[in-house]
Amino acid sequence: MKLKNKVAFITGGTSGIGLETAKLFRAEGAEVVIVGSNADRLEAAGRELDGQATLIQADVRKVADIERAVEEARLKFGHIDIVFANAGASTVAPLEAITPEYVEDNLALNFNGTFFTIQKTAPLIPAGGSIIVTTSFLNTIGMPGLSILAATKAAARSLVRTLGAELAPRGIRVNAISPGAIATPFYGKMGLSEEQLGDVAAGLQQKIALKRFGEASELAKSALYLASDDSSYTTGIELVVDGGLTQF
Ligand SMILES: NC(=O)c1ccc[n+]([C@@H]2O[C@H](COP(=O)([O-])OP(=O)(O)OC[C@H]3O[C@@H](n4cnc5c(N)ncnc54)[C@H](OP(=O)(O)O)[C@@H]3O)[C@@H](O)[C@H]2O)c1
Repeated sequence: MKLKNKVAFITGGTSGIGLETAKLFRAEGAEVVIVGSNADRLEAAGRELDGQATLIQADVRKVADIERAVEEARLKFGHIDIVFANAGASTVAPLEAITPEYVEDNLALNFNGTFFTIQKTAPLIPAGGSIIVTTSFLNTIGMPGLSILAATKAAARSLVRTLGAELAPRGIRVNAISPGAIATPFYGKMGLSEEQLGDVAAGLQQKIALKRFGEASELAKSALYLASDDSSYTTGIELVVDGGLTQF
C-alpha cells in the first residue's frame, strides 16, 4: 500500500475527481478527510467510502470554514501528510454578462479556497508531505464563457510554483494536476441546457486525441502518483491528464 498511515485532506472530496481520489487513497491505506459544502452530498460520499472517511462540511469560500475543518483534522489526527486542494465549480458567462459579484464568487471558491486550504494546512504537514492542486486544461486552451474560471486556474498554477519554492526547504512538495474533459457532475452545474451541454461535449470530444472523456478514476491514479513517494523528486509541476486535448 502506497499511503499506509498517511492522512489525506481532500477538498471537493464528495464528488467526481475528489471522491474517486478519496476511494483510491483509502484503498492505499490512508486516513481520508473529505470536505464539501453540501450536507447531502457529504453524507452520500461517506456511504460510498463505507463509513471509512472523516466528513467535514465546510464552504471553502470562507476562510473561517477552512480553519474549522483543518482544526477538526488536527484534533483527530495531529497532522496532515497529503493535501488535495481540489474543490471547484463555475457557471458559463460570456464577457458581457460578467459582474463583479460573479468574479468575486469565482475567485472565492477557485482561488481563495485553494490558497487558504494550503495556508491553513501547511503548519500541520511534516517533511515528506505532498500538496496537490487541481488546475484545468483551460490553462492551455481558451473556451468561450469561461474567462474567469480559466483565470483562477492560471493563478492556481502560479501558486504551485511559488508555494512549492516556499515549502521545499521543509521537504514538502507542491504540484498541480490538470484535468482535461472528465466525466463528472461538474458540467451539470455550469448553468447550461441539455442541448448546450451536448454541443460542448461533442466539441470537446472532437478535440481530444484519445476521442473520449476521461474518467475521474484516471485522475485519481495521477493524484496517487503525486501524493506518494513514487514522485519523491517531483515538485512545482503541472501533471496534464487530458487524453491529449492540449498537446496536439
Ligand atoms: N470535470 C472536468 O472536466 C474538469 C476539467 C478541468 C478541471 N476540473 C477541476 O476538477 C476539480 C474537481 O471537479 P469535478 O470535475 O470532480 O467536479 P464535481 O464532481 O462537481 O466536484 C466538485 C467538488 O467541489 C466541491 N465544492 C464545490 N463548491 C464548494 C465549496 N464552496 N466549498 C467546498 N467544496 C465545494 C463539491 O462539493 P459540494 O458541491 O457539496 O460543496 C464537489 O465535491 C475542480 O477544481 C474543477 O475545476 C474538472
